[in-house]
Amino acid sequence: MSVNSIRLTKTYIHLDRLTQNMRLLQEHVGTRPLWPCIKANAYGHGAEIVSRHLMSLGYHTFGVADVEEGMALVQAGVQATYIVLSETLPDHSEALVTHGFEPTISTPTMAESLSRETAKAGKQISVHIKVDTGMGRVGIHPNEVKPFLEHCQSLGGLRVRGLMSHFPRADEADKSFSLEQIERFKKVVKETKGYGIEMYHLANSAAIFDLPDSYFNAVRPGISIYGLRPSWEMTNPRVGELEPILEWKTRIVFLKEVPAGRGLSYGHAFHTKRPSLIATIPVGYGDGLNRNLSNNFDLLVQGVRCPQVGRITMDMTLIDVTALRGIVELGDEVEIIGRQGAEEVTADELAGKLGTINYEIVTCISHRVPRVPCAADDTGR
Ligand SMILES: Cc1ncc(COP(=O)(O)O)c(C=O)c1O
Repeated sequence: MSVNSIRLTKTYIHLDRLTQNMRLLQEHVGTRPLWPCIKANAYGHGAEIVSRHLMSLGYHTFGVADVEEGMALVQAGVQATYIVLSETLPDHSEALVTHGFEPTISTPTMAESLSRETAKAGKQISVHIKVDTGMGRVGIHPNEVKPFLEHCQSLGGLRVRGLMSHFPRADEADKSFSLEQIERFKKVVKETKGYGIEMYHLANSAAIFDLPDSYFNAVRPGISIYGLRPSWEMTNPRVGELEPILEWKTRIVFLKEVPAGRGLSYGHAFHTKRPSLIATIPVGYGDGLNRNLSNNFDLLVQGVRCPQVGRITMDMTLIDVTALRGIVELGDEVEIIGRQGAEEVTADELAGKLGTINYEIVTCISHRVPRVPCAADDTGR
């Protein structure tokens, strides 16, 4: 029996919904390539499962954060084109050249280091120049693109395949800043005409829905492929057609009747107000269930919302299932994120309680939680 099959807390990755989300995104951008971002373990969904399914749908260029993420996928046998989205240092040049990854670069130091490495290896490397049109994180100023591009092209072994930028505010209702960025990017595109750049790319998920002028030659969706909306300020109603592909479930491992006035879990941060039926589930902050949710969220048992009570601990959490007295049983399934009957708990709901974004909720589900691929209405048990 595999470790995965005996673990009681699992995520189920609905691949049919991934297919649907890709179809929806593709409808927006027409024949342009989608380059899905599968960094951070595919936003917590399992990079190997997600990338394999995307390859089966015909997608073969992926955004990873760093060299290690690309190498892990190559070692797992996923032979794709990997664009390394975070900044790299010369320490990474050998691995980048060896594996044929495509780094995004914005420093002469990195360009020169890669060039030296290609000479040693007798290979070429494709790179993407990163331009800061307003993100304010990494990238060169639009005015510096031409000299930097000419410098890169003067170095042996470097092929500047792409030129890219990124949006910090495309998910906001007010698009004025993003529209300015598009204009800045268009100016750079115009200035670099004739330099043989094949791919200009700028759009993230929010831009795919709300800013069709930002598509250029390829787009880089992340959160939307997982069926989650970039924000609640999006203007395109079709964002509502996205289907979350992740379900997070566990099972009841202990049930007890507790009298009124009993303190529960560390710090006794919860006291029963009435005789209560309390269930224990084998999930905690060690699995990525944020401790700040303690006493402040519901889980679904038998299609009923049941309040979580007491502090979430590393490995175990308590739920008040008094409403299900006489019905609930040991081994019953508990939905942490997902749907049961007419009820649903979403990553957005948990994010709202924590004052964060859905991206963080799913990305923080820890490595000890198995990711189980499943097809329509199949929860893999
Ligand atoms: C450079 C870059 N492109 C694209 C994306 C995808 O963004 P989103 O998940 O909002 O679609 C990200 C995500 O952080 C990114 O860093």
